[in-house]
Amino acid sequence: MTPPATDGFAPAKVNLSLHVTGQRADGYHLLDSLVMFADVGDRVTVAPAPVMSLRVTGPRAAGVPEDARNLCWKAAEPFGLPVAITLDKHLPAAAGIGGGSSDAAAVLRAMEALTGRPSPMPVARLGADVPVCLLGRAARMRGIGADIQPLEIAPLHAVLVNPGVAVSTPEVFRALARKDNPAMTDLPWNADLTAWLAAQRNDLEPPARALQPVIGTVLEALGACAGVRLVRMSGSGATCFGLFESRAVADSAAQDLRRGNPDWWVRACTLS
Ligand code: C5P
Repeated sequence: MTPPATDGFAPAKVNLSLHVTGQRADGYHLLDSLVMFADVGDRVTVAPAPVMSLRVTGPRAAGVPEDARNLCWKAAEPFGLPVAITLDKHLPAAAGIGGGSSDAAAVLRAMEALTGRPSPMPVARLGADVPVCLLGRAARMRGIGADIQPLEIAPLHAVLVNPGVAVSTPEVFRALARKDNPAMTDLPWNADLTAWLAAQRNDLEPPARALQPVIGTVLEALGACAGVRLVRMSGSGATCFGLFESRAVADSAAQDLRRGNPDWWVRACTLS
């Protein structure tokens, strides 16, 4: 009997803080990051088929490869079961919110369900963010991405903004002046998470802003929103986020930002 198709959500990943604490001999950077996942994302469908195929649809499909270059294909192929993958793309690419990694994680979940086996290939080899995307919920991520500690954090309300410029992650890491920054302080168990976050950083923000000054414009626009509690860049950019006290306040900020900047990708969301 042919196993049924599986249909999965691939949420946007948001780095609420991202400290670069060192660099390994092979060039990879050691990170310390608080990661959460949004209720906005891509959708991935995987169904057994005579040959491997990948079709990319949706508002953000332009320029996304439909062959073995795509992380979805790379995630599925080692299982040895040919599948037809449909990727409904809603997240901007090269945007610091883990779109490709989250898509790959959704394919891995589907392939595990279809074959009853875990990935034959170490998932971290697909990308540094794939292990945390496979977990898909709030976590502290350390090392080069595979050291993951799941966390119980109350949902946060946010607005994500991407100004439409693609940012190359390796270029941002290369432009980072200091690689041995202090780690995050320990998370508070009872105190205000936003106050703790304000004392943390994204070390990739200065080099990303130097490469793409529009990131500064996005941070300013988010910082000017009524009711905003924290503003920061996610990953290596260019997507930035603002945190708000409720979803209603986030929705209203998103509306204003969209009105003022019709070319930007703006989404209110809840992070968990
Ligand atoms: O693993 P991923 O494809 O997300 O990484 C893209 C690039 O970013 C890597 O090839 C590397 O240049 C850089 N990187 C890094 N240290 C990390 C993660 C990524 O230097 N921890």
